[in-house]
Amino acid sequence: MPAVVIVGAQWGDEGKGKITDLLAQDAEYIVRYQGGNNAGHTVVVGDETFKLHLIPSGILYSDKVCLIGNGVVIDPEVLLEELTSLEKRGISTANLLISERAHVIMEYHRLLDRLEEADRTEKIGTTGRGIGPCYVDKVARSGIRMVEFIDQGLLRERLKQVLPGKNRLLKAMYNNEGFELDDLLARCQPLAQQLKNRVGDTTAVVNRALAEGKNVLFEGAQGTLLDVDHGTYPFVTSSSASSGGAPTGSGAPVTCIDKVIGVMKAYCTRVGEGPFPTELRDRTGDEIRVRGNEFGTTTGRPRRCGWLDGVALKYAVEVNGMNGLALTLLDVLDGFEKVKVCTGYKHGDQILERPPASLKVLRECEPVYAELPGWPVGSCKKAKSYEELPKEAKGYVEFIEELTGIPVVMVSVGPGREDTFVRSKIFEDR
Ligand code: GDP
Ligand code: IMO
Ligand code: MG
Repeated sequence: MPAVVIVGAQWGDEGKGKITDLLAQDAEYIVRYQGGNNAGHTVVVGDETFKLHLIPSGILYSDKVCLIGNGVVIDPEVLLEELTSLEKRGISTANLLISERAHVIMEYHRLLDRLEEADRTEKIGTTGRGIGPCYVDKVARSGIRMVEFIDQGLLRERLKQVLPGKNRLLKAMYNNEGFELDDLLARCQPLAQQLKNRVGDTTAVVNRALAEGKNVLFEGAQGTLLDVDHGTYPFVTSSSASSGGAPTGSGAPVTCIDKVIGVMKAYCTRVGEGPFPTELRDRTGDEIRVRGNEFGTTTGRPRRCGWLDGVALKYAVEVNGMNGLALTLLDVLDGFEKVKVCTGYKHGDQILERPPASLKVLRECEPVYAELPGWPVGSCKKAKSYEELPKEAKGYVEFIEELTGIPVVMVSVGPGREDTFVRSKIFEDR
């Protein structure tokens, strides 16, 4: 059962969209399993750029089946906009199926996300898309799933049960008037009508595909350090962004997974608040931001930039059970005299080799760096194969392999499909 999971090895925006698009060439099914439209996955094909938020990055191939799994939270309006914009650009979305068990981001989730964030003394810097409140309702058993959303009667029943509670909360905590049931239903109806035919049993589809020996690619969103369990809590997203999210968020059994590929940048970025030990608040950080065009795909916010954090990376390799790394944006480090990799966190007179759970401790840590020789301006950017990379850049790749104990199976030096060097095959030949 050839199933491969793509996960973010850092704080998101590692280039998962690009790597998924590339590996999708050899896959028949591409499945999103968690997160929602907080994600922004960029795929560059020739001179066209696609920014995908909810739809799997395999959609650009007309012959692939794309699934939005039960673990994803769906804002129907955003999904419809994304579908329309792809169709307008000549991309067929006929093969997209949405799980009937996926939870729906309702208007009150978006409102609560903004009100809760405004109310926090210590901001998380959420994307404001209603992701957290929607997952809260899912776990609290007050959510609305696609199967209910697309059925007027069921939706009315569900809203009758959950809306009064939401309105009481909005009034008591934020002096907000809340939502009127009939108005809300009326706004949901046209959205439900348009999505209805795309909703189905994605669990059955993915399991059938696996049983038939089809190649299935699971596309993670966010990154390991944003995972609700394994990340820098509470500065995380509200879903399981690491590989463990793939089975629960798709209904594919955990035993089907053959490989986990972690996507990592050659450095680190983070959008929103929260600890970031290797952050560079200086000219080097600014330089990385400009060269890497490090501005959020979803919110346009400038991303915080810093050197590669080897401590966080090793932890991500462990938590995800990664078999290989896809290293992206190596070209952004072209022209630095020296490049640095954090190999430990200094805390008092101790060197920590794992990220501490306590954010207080993490904030007190100073990164310990290994310094590696840089490589000439433009040299990775112009390389056409792994062999053509300058020896120092290859040395950097080898350093990462040694540090993590797993191979760097792909190296990327530009946003396009052709800018990726595949060092070992991910899906085996059949
Ligand atoms: P994702 O959320 O993990 O899919 O990543 P994003 O799409 O949010 O951010 C990655 C950005 O880096 C996008 O703008 C990509 O087009 C771009 N990108 C991906 N790989 C490379 C690379 O190797 N070099 C350069 N220069 N840009 C890249
Ligand atoms: P992709 O899939 C980077 C961050 C937000 C915020 C925190 C919580 O493109 O890598 P949320 O709205 O999820 O409740 O916000 O998580 N965040 C991301 N950062 N890339 C993403 O997705 C992100 N999705 C959420 O900035 O700090
Ligand atoms: Mg992104």
